[in-house]
Amino acid sequence: MGLVFLAGLAGILWGVYVGVTQFYLMRQMANDPDDEKFASYGGYAVMTGCTDGIGKAYCLRMCRKIDKFVLIGRNREKLGKLTAEMKEINSKVQTIEILADFAGHVDYPALEKKLASLDIGVFMNFVGVSYPLPQMIHKMDADYPNLSWDHINVNLVSATQLSRVIVPKMVERKSGLVVYVSSGSSTQPTPFQSSYAAGKKLLDQLAINMSYEYAGTGVDFQSIKPYYVATKLTQNKLQHNYSYTTMIPSAEEYTRQALGTIGRFVTTHGYAKGLIDLDLSSF
Ligand SMILES: NC(=O)c1ccc[n+]([C@@H]2O[C@H](COP(=O)([O-])OP(=O)(O)OC[C@H]3O[C@@H](n4cnc5c(N)ncnc54)[C@H](OP(=O)(O)O)[C@@H]3O)[C@@H](O)[C@H]2O)c1
Repeated sequence: MGLVFLAGLAGILWGVYVGVTQFYLMRQMANDPDDEKFASYGGYAVMTGCTDGIGKAYCLRMCRKIDKFVLIGRNREKLGKLTAEMKEINSKVQTIEILADFAGHVDYPALEKKLASLDIGVFMNFVGVSYPLPQMIHKMDADYPNLSWDHINVNLVSATQLSRVIVPKMVERKSGLVVYVSSGSSTQPTPFQSSYAAGKKLLDQLAINMSYEYAGTGVDFQSIKPYYVATKLTQNKLQHNYSYTTMIPSAEEYTRQALGTIGRFVTTHGYAKGLIDLDLSSF
């Protein structure tokens, strides 16, 4: 009994230690000049899911340091608006805008041709859809048509297919960065958002596996696993109006810390306060 108590106590203290040290490490990283590591890969940054939320916040922050982007999105107007906003921040920004709706038929060979002649240093796959509101898996397609397929085609096939196209070019140039956007929901039981969270687990594992598979090639992989961030994706569930709270960051605040984790963690929540969710939920 005494031994069990001691083992439990040791586990709790270890969890608190890991949580607290990572919390301070990430806080520190938010103000660290090394958060510009993404700029060291050179070439174009290919960004999906960039017209809103976290992906857009990454673009607006990254364009302060890099000039060349391929923006892939489903809405021509929003792509144009993003280019204009980036140019306002950095007048040297050049973008190639590509229209693709990942929920529909994506002609990956055609996309491959469009990217073929480009020197690509960074690929970040932010595109993603979740449940507007939590639902049981047998009811989800009735409430949200096609959502079970979107969780595969939008969230997963985009990542694997675009990696297939882009990563070999990075290997050739001996340098590259690939970021997949997983989710905190992949790290704990997430009933009523089952197929979303399970797919996000795949993305996290993909980054880990690829980091071994391509070790020594100069290509780095990362999975970020945000907990709640105040974006369009969480608006219904959290009933927020894009306003953030102490525990739920805005996309800009999340990005400020998460960008600093590049080159430091293959898999990370990316945001210090998210670690509190993780560590409390593990007990
Ligand atoms: N917010 C969170 O709390 C949270 C937590 C964990 C993980 N994540 C992940 O973070 C990523 C970004 O989410 P977010 O919160 O920034 O959401 P968001 O604001 O809704 O942005 C999603 C982005 O994906 C694009 N998109 C969605 N469906 C698409 C499709 N069929 N074809 C092409 N583009 C499509 C959207 O385009 P439009 O602008 O045209 O809508 C938008 O650019 C997602 O992968 C999400 O799963 C978010």
